Amino acid sequence: MHQFQRTLVTTALPYANGPVHLGHLAGVYLPADIYVRYKRLKGEDVIHIGGSDEHGVPITITAEKEGISPQDVVDRYHSMNLEAFSKCGISFDYYGRTTSELHHATAQEFFLDIEGKGIFTKKTEKLFFDRKADRFLSDRYVTGTCPICNNPEANGDQCEQCGTHLSPLELINPKSKLSDATPELRETMHWYFPLGRFQERLEEYVNSHEEDWRQNVVNYSRTWLKQGLNDRAITRDLGWGIKVPIEGEESFGKVLYVWFDAVLGYISFTREWAAKLGESERWREYWQDPESRLVHFIGKDNVVFHTLMFPAILMAWNEGRQSGCYNLADNVPASEFMNFEGRKFSKSRNYAVYLGEFLEKFSADTLRYTIAMNYPENKDTDFSWQDYQNRTNGELADTLGNFIKRSVDFTNARFDGAVPWECTTEEWNSLGINWPDTLQQLDLAFEQFHFREATSLGMDIARVANRFLTESEPWKAIKSDREAAARAMALSLNLCHALSVALYPVIPETCNSIYAMLGFQGSIEDRFVRGSSLTASLLQPALPKGHKLREKSEILFKKLEDADIAPELRKIEGLLAEAEKREAGAEQSRMEFKPEISFDDFLKVDLRVATVLSAETVKKAGKLLKLKLQVGSATRDVLAGIARYYTPEEMVGKNVVLVANLADRTIRDEVSEGMILAVEGEDGKLFVVEPAGNEINGRQIQ
Ligand code: 2FM
Ligand code: ZN
Repeated sequence: MHQFQRTLVTTALPYANGPVHLGHLAGVYLPADIYVRYKRLKGEDVIHIGGSDEHGVPITITAEKEGISPQDVVDRYHSMNLEAFSKCGISFDYYGRTTSELHHATAQEFFLDIEGKGIFTKKTEKLFFDRKADRFLSDRYVTGTCPICNNPEANGDQCEQCGTHLSPLELINPKSKLSDATPELRETMHWYFPLGRFQERLEEYVNSHEEDWRQNVVNYSRTWLKQGLNDRAITRDLGWGIKVPIEGEESFGKVLYVWFDAVLGYISFTREWAAKLGESERWREYWQDPESRLVHFIGKDNVVFHTLMFPAILMAWNEGRQSGCYNLADNVPASEFMNFEGRKFSKSRNYAVYLGEFLEKFSADTLRYTIAMNYPENKDTDFSWQDYQNRTNGELADTLGNFIKRSVDFTNARFDGAVPWECTTEEWNSLGINWPDTLQQLDLAFEQFHFREATSLGMDIARVANRFLTESEPWKAIKSDREAAARAMALSLNLCHALSVALYPVIPETCNSIYAMLGFQGSIEDRFVRGSSLTASLLQPALPKGHKLREKSEILFKKLEDADIAPELRKIEGLLAEAEKREAGAEQSRMEFKPEISFDDFLKVDLRVATVLSAETVKKAGKLLKLKLQVGSATRDVLAGIARYYTPEEMVGKNVVLVANLADRTIRDEVSEGMILAVEGEDGKLFVVEPAGNEINGRQIQ
């Protein structure tokens, strides 16, 4: 692997539109923090840049709901999230805001550079306009009936019921969320980023990382590349955001699309970091020196913005430049999701544990440890209170905390608070731990983003240490063989030191406390020196005979009683009961039958058994399958919103029920000549209704 000189770590900018929850922490901020702390421990040059994403439509919706300004909304959540992160020990070198002046200037500079090169295209399109509110309506401001599943409350960008990505124009009976009025279509011009122009370069880029990126990241990116990249609108008709920096009428009332500006936040914030240091050009080292490594920590829902969209923006900037070119990300460790007590975190349903609230009652390191042990690296994982309690009590308090306290207390009581023996490397190697191997495994685990494994390796050392102390029984030996007791204690204290180093990236506050109990002034962080690695100290005993400990020990972890987590469990029960009520309500509304129709009306519906001849996915509409059906001697092309539940191959050969005399409908530029019947199962999964028998094709159903 190439040895870079320095590393720039970025973390997805959370929207300043709500408090961050444990799911965010698990997927993005904790893994990034563990990684940068590890690099600092190794004496490497690394900075961690993050901040708030303060634009976008949902923020304006919150502001309108609360009758306050969008600025008030982002002020509130920016400080709230920054405080929660800091309490949790997430050590940003800089935490910026996309409303800052420098960020606006940076984003506008990129826009103008790309515009100046003639790369953007402009298109006039028809968008919904609310006359009462005198505003164009972005997708999120339009609601209506989903053309796929008939959900009457689908959003303009997506139907939450069937998951289909929609455009507002596809909604049946569209309504403005601002005034409830039926919006009208008006022409408006927008700037588009031609992602397709970068298709080949992006393919090459993704292919070049086939080996070192996570499989999910390569796969998500390739799915997009396979479908063919399209132009993406990068401006919006909106009052909140970064003004399109073009003089005159055509840019009036237009701002940059939030994703175009957000990814550039990483650059603006590095510039702000450098300016704060008083070395205003230093940011260039991290972005523009090919010897710098760029790593984006994100959740899986943000992959394509970081592997395709942002690199393409940087490619556009780099075009025609000899100097001042930006590096593309070397890695994008995207996480899967961590669920909460078996269900997805949901801000809109308030099914979440918010980080700030959590830390009012419980400690940061117990949370960091539990989450690191459940890091959603390759698959979704779960946070449960029971697991949190078990790990806190069993692994942290009983194993790690107990070992450290026993070692320090016994030395203070019986050896005058000083390391009583000069341990040899031979003795160090006789503990049953192969230190060079362990160090190598730790290094690989941290470097390759296997944080669960790295954390387990640390806890394994604690287990060996705890067992060693128990089995050496220095409290007995001290009576008959003081030297044996001294040797055991010296080894134990050295193990305390090794643990404070190995576990530091995951539980830094605890490790700093261990370090202080071992008698060191200041914290482990104070020992970070660029170019000198503290991890190497694991290879031999670090504490010489006579090294003085601090006189007082402390309890590192308070055990969690059932009573401590009982209120949390009750809260979950409440949330789950609410969710069940909501689901039951949905079920109930399904039982509210549609208005009666006459028998003659019913006879108008021509239901036929049809056989699927071929099936294919629909470009630009990931949820749709296009089916070619044989109905007697006729064939029909029908679109069905079932791509998430059936592969095209599974559909071929099936008998289905076709509504054969339905008027044609156009969805995503494709015409659907009828509809097939399906039943909704658990979790909204659709099952196609399948009449049995080979001989019934074309028959009418009555
Ligand atoms: O999904 C989100 O929460 C976005 N605010 C993430 C932005 S990441 C980056 F582009 F800034
Ligand atoms: Zn739907």
